Amino acid sequence: MASTFFNNGQEQHIRVCITRDSLVPPGQPFYCLSAEGYLNTHCCYTDYCNSMDLKIPSGLPLFVQRTVARTIVLQEIIGKGRFGEVWRGRWRGGDVAVKIFSSREERSWFREAEIYQTIMLRHENILGFIAADNKDNGTWTQLWLVSDYHEYGSLFDYLNRYSVTTEGMIKLTLSAANGLAHLHMEILGTQGKPGIAHRDLKSKNILVKKNCTCAIADLGLAVRHDSATDTIDIAPNQRVGTKRYMAPEVLDETINMKHFESFKCADIYALGLVYWEIARRCNTGGVHEEYQLPYYDLVPSDPAIDEMRKVVCDQNQRPNIPNWWQSYEALRVMGKIMRECWYANGAARLTALRIKKTLSQLSIDEDIKI
Ligand SMILES: Nc1ncnc2c1ncn2[C@@H]1O[C@H](COP(=O)(O)OP(=O)(O)O)[C@@H](O)[C@H]1O
Ligand SMILES: [Mg+2]
Repeated sequence: MASTFFNNGQEQHIRVCITRDSLVPPGQPFYCLSAEGYLNTHCCYTDYCNSMDLKIPSGLPLFVQRTVARTIVLQEIIGKGRFGEVWRGRWRGGDVAVKIFSSREERSWFREAEIYQTIMLRHENILGFIAADNKDNGTWTQLWLVSDYHEYGSLFDYLNRYSVTTEGMIKLTLSAANGLAHLHMEILGTQGKPGIAHRDLKSKNILVKKNCTCAIADLGLAVRHDSATDTIDIAPNQRVGTKRYMAPEVLDETINMKHFESFKCADIYALGLVYWEIARRCNTGGVHEEYQLPYYDLVPSDPAIDEMRKVVCDQNQRPNIPNWWQSYEALRVMGKIMRECWYANGAARLTALRIKKTLSQLSIDEDIKI
């Protein structure tokens, strides 16, 4: 077992050998029973793990996470996704969201918890992680991820329900770019952060906060970049994510998966689609369009990879940018950003940082306080 903790402000490391039986669950490299109270503990399959180097993660110590999770009272189901249910829960008089995975999905639960606990990940436009807990009631294991609760729900739900003002559109798009720029960015140094690519960006995986800004959520498919060795922290499988939002190079499998930047470029393509969903709902000159998913007019619901590939790769089609958007500065800028997110060549697309700068300038020009 290798652990890292703070003692009088000093980072300290210990390495000890523990038995197979002390692993939770037994035999797997997850939490060690003795991990409670430590900030970061890693167990390996092998008897000795001397060459391990751990960093202090962001997030609560594991025993605090467990205590929090075990005092939450579940209230109602608020979402269903790939892996199970999302509940609203009450904790100390406030609301929290609890994503519950079945024990079959242990890998997914562990992976998402691991990503959320990447050092320096915390950001106002990334869903705030509170705790992970594995609760065994004797018959089965319940796997929980606890996070901040956002009553507006996903951006998809929000746009279905409401149209937005120009100001609202800029707040949503700028905050989403802010969150994605932080996720993508590598911060160097011992307390640094690796670059992270989301790989399943879409309006259902972005939440809307009370102040009408975005928080990027559902980090279960994310990959992290180790720039020292130029490697990706899990073997990335070919096509994960949501077919409708897959970039052309993902659909036709030409993406270079050894190259971390490729995953960031695929995220930008998906961000452009999300921007299109938002911009359509913008009230300008008294008009706004109804909510639609990207490619609603070109593919059936729940499209197959082949159906998407035909439209996006072979025919090189993209969502329609209406001509009348050119008459309104904010929509004109949005249309231009989208086009530059949708290039067939991933490397030619904008970066999240570039989009953030363009939208910050737009918010100044439009006299919007963010
Ligand atoms: N923190 C939260 N606050 C409010 N609603 C949430 C929250 N987290 C998830 N949801 C709702 O649950 C849905 C599924 O959550 P998500 O994390 O995307 O799970 P999955 O991995 O199963 O897709 C979201 O689309 C959203 O509607
Ligand atoms: Mg999801």
